[in-house]
Amino acid sequence: MVDFGAVSAIIFDLDGVLLSTDQYHYAAWKALADELEIPFCEKDNLAFRGVSRMDCMELLLSKRAELRLTEAEKVAYATKKNERYRSLLEGITPAFVAEEVRETLRVLKERGYRLAVGSSSKNSGFILKKTDLDGCFHAIVDGNDISRSKPDPEVFVKAAEALGVPPERCAVIEDAEAGLSAAVSGGMLPIAIGEAKGSHLARLSIEGLGELTQIFDRKMENKNGR
Ligand code: BG6
Ligand code: MG
Repeated sequence: MVDFGAVSAIIFDLDGVLLSTDQYHYAAWKALADELEIPFCEKDNLAFRGVSRMDCMELLLSKRAELRLTEAEKVAYATKKNERYRSLLEGITPAFVAEEVRETLRVLKERGYRLAVGSSSKNSGFILKKTDLDGCFHAIVDGNDISRSKPDPEVFVKAAEALGVPPERCAVIEDAEAGLSAAVSGGMLPIAIGEAKGSHLARLSIEGLGELTQIFDRKMENKNGR
C-alpha cells in the first residue's frame, strides 16, 4: 500500500481538478444530448468525468438504444461536441485558475516534488497554454498520448514514467471515479477532490488543492524523486 510519506511525485487530473473546465464539458454534452433528444443531467455527467471523448459518446448513445448511428456519424457528433467545448474554452485566461492552485503547485515544486498532469483530454495542451499553467509541471501526459482512457491506468503509468518515479511513490489527485480507479490499478495513492470526494476508492478526500501543502510537507532530498 502506498504510504503518504513515501510520495515524491504528484499527478494531477486537469478538468475539474486544476480548473473548472468540467462545467464546459457538461454544457457541451448537454447541448448535444438535447439535440439528439437524449435525457442528460449533471448526475449522468459524473460517469463522463475522466472518460475519453468517444467513450463518452458511446455512454450518451447508450441512453437512447433505438438511436443507431454509424461510426462516422458518432465521430461527427463527438466533433460537434468538441467544437462547442472549444468555443467555451476560447474565453479562458490565466484568471480562470484559482490562486490557491498556482500557489500549491509552486510550493510543492519548490519542496522538490515531481509534478505531472495526467488527463484524458486531447485539449489539455490548449487549456494549459491559455491559462499559463504549462510551465508548472515536469511532465504532461494527455489524451493524445494514450490508447486506453481512464479507468485504465495508462495515462498515470506514462506520467510516472515521464517523471522517472515508481508508481508506489506517486499520488494522484482526481475528481472522477474513473480516475481514482485508474490510480488504484496503477498502484498509486488516490486522493479525491470535487465530485469524487468521499469515494470509497480514495485513500483521502480533500476540499481544496491547498490542503496538499500540509499533506506533502517534506523537502525532497533527491529532486528526481527516486
Ligand atoms: C477528461 C474529462 O478530462 O477529458 C472528460 O473529464 C472528457 O469529461 C475527457 O470527456 C476527454 O476530453 P476531450 O477534451 O479530449 O474531449
Ligand atoms: Mg477530471
